Amino acid sequence: MTKVSLNTSSQNLSLQKNKYWAVIPAAGAGKRMASKIPKQYLPLAGKTVLEQTLNVFIQHPDISGIVLAVTEGDPYWQEIAANYNQENMTPVFIAPGGQERCHSVLNALKELTVHASDNDWALVHDAARPCLTGSDIDQLITKLSDSPAGGLLGLPMADTVKRCDKEQNVIATVERSELWRALTPQMFPLKLLKDALTLAIENKALVTDEASAIELQGLKPKIVEGQPGNIKITHPGDLQLAALFFANAQD
Ligand code: CTP
Ligand code: MG
Repeated sequence: MTKVSLNTSSQNLSLQKNKYWAVIPAAGAGKRMASKIPKQYLPLAGKTVLEQTLNVFIQHPDISGIVLAVTEGDPYWQEIAANYNQENMTPVFIAPGGQERCHSVLNALKELTVHASDNDWALVHDAARPCLTGSDIDQLITKLSDSPAGGLLGLPMADTVKRCDKEQNVIATVERSELWRALTPQMFPLKLLKDALTLAIENKALVTDEASAIELQGLKPKIVEGQPGNIKITHPGDLQLAALFFANAQD
């Protein structure tokens, strides 16, 4: 596979001055949630899930702007779009969603190249993770800004892990000490990520996170330990968990 170039150490110094942008894929259908409307538009603590997610980045002082990937003609986004891009607000640019998450992210990265520099940082974050905190964004920025291959938030595996066959018979207990769950945001230099994702898709690797595309280039993204509350709303019960998170945050 063709390799994408990594910044040289002299360019690394300038990375610190580069801007930080959020890239939010929000064009999924939410099949596992099985709700009437896509899960990113379900109500959560007085707003939609997507609005709560956008707010975290809008309120963060280091984020220069946001690119949101939404399904073309998405009527739910149209209903709330007027709340954004008002005077003195962090800009929200729109890109078309794609077939899979990786296509939506790549579309958003292409839109971001219009507004950002090659070495600016893209923080890719699932719309379905509204419980992200500003301090997790702080951690990523502090710990990764000197790491040219970028990285991601993760959580060390807490439970004992089993490998099973299709009938759910346990085949093995997997050593968990080196296992982490990959969360978002995942933060990479814009051009590095765009090129890596383009190559992954060209090679028919429909990667489910950005780090996978970077790993396919032989690079080693770093994991920064995140907060366990940063859940991805996937199944119906997750929305109740997220609601609890917001109720506690307001106490
Ligand atoms: N996503 C996207 N474009 C797609 C698929 C997913 O932008 N073609 C987004 C989702 O909107 C979500 C994030 O990627 O914010 C993470 O994906 P996931 O949790 O899998 O959401 P869905 O694909 O919508 O859910 P499901 O897999 O259950 O259908
Ligand atoms: Mg999905």
